[in-house]
Amino acid sequence: MRIDIISIFPEYFAPLGVSLIGKARERGTLDIRLHQLRDWAHDVHRTVDDTPYGGGPGMVMKPDPWGAALDDVLDADPAARPRIVVPTPSGVPFTQKLAMEYAAEPWLLFTPARYEGIDSRVMAEYGSRLRVDEVSIGDYVLAGGEVAVLVMVEAVGRLLPGVLGNARSAVDDSFAPGAMENLLEGPVYTKPPEWRGHRVPEILLSGHHGKIARWRRDEALRRTAKNRPELLSALPPEGLDKHDRALLSELAELAELGFPVGGQDVAD
Ligand code: ADE
Repeated sequence: MRIDIISIFPEYFAPLGVSLIGKARERGTLDIRLHQLRDWAHDVHRTVDDTPYGGGPGMVMKPDPWGAALDDVLDADPAARPRIVVPTPSGVPFTQKLAMEYAAEPWLLFTPARYEGIDSRVMAEYGSRLRVDEVSIGDYVLAGGEVAVLVMVEAVGRLLPGVLGNARSAVDDSFAPGAMENLLEGPVYTKPPEWRGHRVPEILLSGHHGKIARWRRDEALRRTAKNRPELLSALPPEGLDKHDRALLSELAELAELGFPVGGQDVAD
């Protein structure tokens, strides 16, 4: 997969040389190209921002440098067309589903902005010819889109074939499609079996795969009820078995009575 990132802080992306993503780049699975937006600003100060029309605080990124930068990056490979991703707190939520969609694209182009954002005519111009997504990584405001791009590249990059050491890791993720879709992953443990008086739940040492799977699902349901109850109401009823339903009504009753509905990891 090819990823282009145009930013006034290309140095922000040094972490993409590390760990899984760094290795994927070395292997050629990921081809990440960084561009300095100011290279397309032609006044002496290499200005990329100006005051907003209509007044108000802050500065807006000028359309000219963005247009010139995007044209050059697009024209360098006229046979292909990237999906453009504009990080902004006003965008659609970035979810695992969107990460999977992006992981299936051959080429992504990220345009992280500073200041109050990019002049909207840039999105209108390219949106008429290409797929342009305005995407938010959460309901909070960052100082710029660079960190949002790091988040998205990591979430997408780890889904590419061969990037995770164990392909099942992505299958078992919280939010991954399948039986555990929309359930948070439950607690995990490793050796030793006892640490500071806390024992690993015996079931995990039993070697009984069926019971372990059931226990994990119960813990996932408990954790979701505690941390993200709104996800439970989005679960399709046909995805719940008898045991799931019994556990959920027990948790709902406890919650109604004012008892905490936490999982194994927090209850003891
Ligand atoms: N830029 C500033 N805040 C952001 C957010 N929450 N998501 C994406 N880009 C942003």
